[in-house]
Amino acid sequence: IKKIAVLTSGGDSPGMNAAIRSVVRTCAYMKVECVGIYRGYQGMIEGDFKPMDARSVNNIINKGGTILKSARCTEFRTPEGRKKAHEHLLSAGIDAFVVIGGDGSFTGAMIFNQEYNFPIMGIPGTIDNDIFGTSFTLGFDTALNTVVDCIDKIRDTASSHNRLFFVEVMGRDVGHIALNAGVGAGAEEILIPEENLGLDRLLESLKRSKESGKSSSIVIVAEGDKTGKNVFELKEYVEKHLPIYDVRVSVLGHMQRGGAPSCYDRVLASRMGVKAVESLLEGKTNLMVGVQDNQITLTPINKAIKGHTKIDKELIRVSEIMTT
Ligand code: F6P
Repeated sequence: IKKIAVLTSGGDSPGMNAAIRSVVRTCAYMKVECVGIYRGYQGMIEGDFKPMDARSVNNIINKGGTILKSARCTEFRTPEGRKKAHEHLLSAGIDAFVVIGGDGSFTGAMIFNQEYNFPIMGIPGTIDNDIFGTSFTLGFDTALNTVVDCIDKIRDTASSHNRLFFVEVMGRDVGHIALNAGVGAGAEEILIPEENLGLDRLLESLKRSKESGKSSSIVIVAEGDKTGKNVFELKEYVEKHLPIYDVRVSVLGHMQRGGAPSCYDRVLASRMGVKAVESLLEGKTNLMVGVQDNQITLTPINKAIKGHTKIDKELIRVSEIMTT
């Protein structure tokens, strides 16, 4: 392997730049050429490539987003799209690529590998932390800090006005952001898709909370929660059935994806980038780099995309005790 490409794909996450930097610098260290691919698989299909050396990634370790830009590319899901991508990679003399992204991006890489026997390596970059084979995806820790910071601010105003707030957080189909940020910010209730305890229980708990002397409350709602109601409908429901609260809603949205990566995400990205390049140079392929028990690990990419990381039952129990 003489030339390795790197791309970021799917929803961006803080730490992607630090991972790009690590891949590029490891290539430079190993005396292998490196090429950046812009806009994920869309740029691969269009041949939007740029040679990168150690100096191309100066001053980006601290930056959110991705300097290579990202896209959710539907054309790469078609054999025609992948054929164009393959032709561009061959004509640029690229021997392997590292894709930084989530399960959709890994699925694309895996199919591409099967079709063209092209060496690929995945680095998990998503705020959702929904990838099997790693305890942390890049951006999860930063997103948690962002969410906790926002909820701390919401708590100030909630408490000044004796209000109940429903705060919607991201996470797609999983509740990792909601559960961890909820515990970290001291939320009174956390609604996650993995555990739907029903609306009656929510009302009971809010009633108990008020009776126990709490004047304000924060309920974190994962965007994928299974109550069957969105945050605005939850507000109406509580106002109707429990008129003791003045209720407001806050949807945190895409601010959760931005901002400078935390130190944890920067260090993790640096470790993962080194492992990704070294593994390709050792002839390994079709794997995802992860971190488990603070050791950098490799997981077959088909396993990484099939299973989700399991919700932490112990943390659910902790959150229940903390809301007493
Ligand atoms: O996967 C990351 C994520 O931010 C999810 O939490 C969210 O559901 C989704 O992406 C939003 O996607 P988009 O930026 O395309 O609206």
